Amino acid sequence: MYGLRMAASQTRAFLHLSEGAILRVQGPMRVSVSEGQILILGAIYPRGSELRIARYRTYGLKALVDSKLEIYMEEGASVEAPQRDEEPLDMWIYSVDHDIRRGCRTFVILGPTDSGKSSLASLIANRALLRNLRVGVVDGDVGQADVGPPGCVSAAVISNTVLWLREAVPRYMKFIGDTTPQHRESAVVAAIVELLAKLRLRDNIDVAVVNTDGWVRGEAAIRHKLDVVNYVEPDSVIILGDERLYRIFEVEFRHLPCGVKLLPSPRIRRQRTREERRLLRSERYRTFLAGSDRRRLNMREIAVQNSCLLGGLQLDRAVVERLSRILGVDVLLAVDSGDVVRVAVSSDVDASRLDVAEAVVGKKVEIVDVRDAENLIVGVIGHGGQLCGIGVIRHVDLRTLTIEVETPCSEEIRGVVLGRIKISENMDAEYGRVRHCVL
Ligand SMILES: Nc1ncnc2c1ncn2[C@@H]1O[C@H](COP(=O)(O)OP(=O)(O)OP(=O)(O)O)[C@@H](O)[C@H]1O
Ligand SMILES: [Mg+2]
Repeated sequence: MYGLRMAASQTRAFLHLSEGAILRVQGPMRVSVSEGQILILGAIYPRGSELRIARYRTYGLKALVDSKLEIYMEEGASVEAPQRDEEPLDMWIYSVDHDIRRGCRTFVILGPTDSGKSSLASLIANRALLRNLRVGVVDGDVGQADVGPPGCVSAAVISNTVLWLREAVPRYMKFIGDTTPQHRESAVVAAIVELLAKLRLRDNIDVAVVNTDGWVRGEAAIRHKLDVVNYVEPDSVIILGDERLYRIFEVEFRHLPCGVKLLPSPRIRRQRTREERRLLRSERYRTFLAGSDRRRLNMREIAVQNSCLLGGLQLDRAVVERLSRILGVDVLLAVDSGDVVRVAVSSDVDASRLDVAEAVVGKKVEIVDVRDAENLIVGVIGHGGQLCGIGVIRHVDLRTLTIEVETPCSEEIRGVVLGRIKISENMDAEYGRVRHCVL
């Protein structure tokens, strides 16, 4: 039937859809409903509506009655008629409506990357909004975060129809500091539970949707997801497109009021490459760092979380001076962590002299070059003691114990939380993760 694929710049097309017809539309495009009524991600768009489908997003679009659409497609956009059974839209809506009707109110969504988790989360929100329920979303995906910045667990109240959770404004955020939950599993679970409690207590939500990351292979990943479900205690667990995962969760959680369900992933969907995922994250960094100012902070006065240097037992001046002579550099700080002595410097150290230094302190010596902390993303704790946003470390001076952070948070800064992701100088792309201690 249809099969428009645009390579060139903007193209305008008119489509007539008969009642019940479904199309697969891929952004970037703008759709204007000239006549009739359509359904996307469970949201109803009547005549006169205008909507935008973002780049890298594909959705099933259904005509609820005979409809006419005007579409403006940009490069990369396409419109296709799906084959039978390719489109899960009807099945998703049927299942979600059924659950909401019978009183299921808290949902956890699980599935591999690109299985449709974020889309289903939006669909549940849209269906709940149609029933005038208050909806909150907890975005527990620190990698492909939709609601807040990457590296954070975030939560939002959804008060208008959403086509992409990126349209939602984060109300609460918790900084995890990495784009994978691996090694930070308990922090992620605790953050999800905390933000869910806030949405319930402060915002009086009726329906809660918890989205998770796509790390579902291997025992550690499964354990993490089991913990999420265990501590959230949802009414319903929905697994997308992964039968093996479904079997595990069905055995563990069949006692839940609305049980565990397996729903199909869209059969034909655009799988994002690693590069596209990075690009999508970059856009998010830009958004959450826009309007940043450089702030100079005194590390004696603010809280510094996750530091491997500042809270340790400092070796006295004489030892520090001796280490400086041995290593041939200015040692700024030497800290005994129990297992190792960390020696902070801000110039290159000749590694061949480490043996001598280790003999002096009687322990393994680890060099911490604080220049490595530059361009590290941090969580910024604001006036009320809550995360106010993210920031980037620009300079650390251990002599004066000052740190310079670029952040859009304009309130009084009470603390910084060190993460593991580094960002490029112009703040628009990740360029690595620190392995361990940098400050
Ligand atoms: N009904 C649909 N038909 C076709 N494609 C769809 C449909 N719903 C969603 N998609 C597309 O499938 C892709 C994956 O969806 P989504 O981003 O929701 O998955 P995800 O599991 O959240 O992915 P991630 O692991 O990146 O967070 C997206 O490009 C999305 O636009
Ligand atoms: Mg997602």
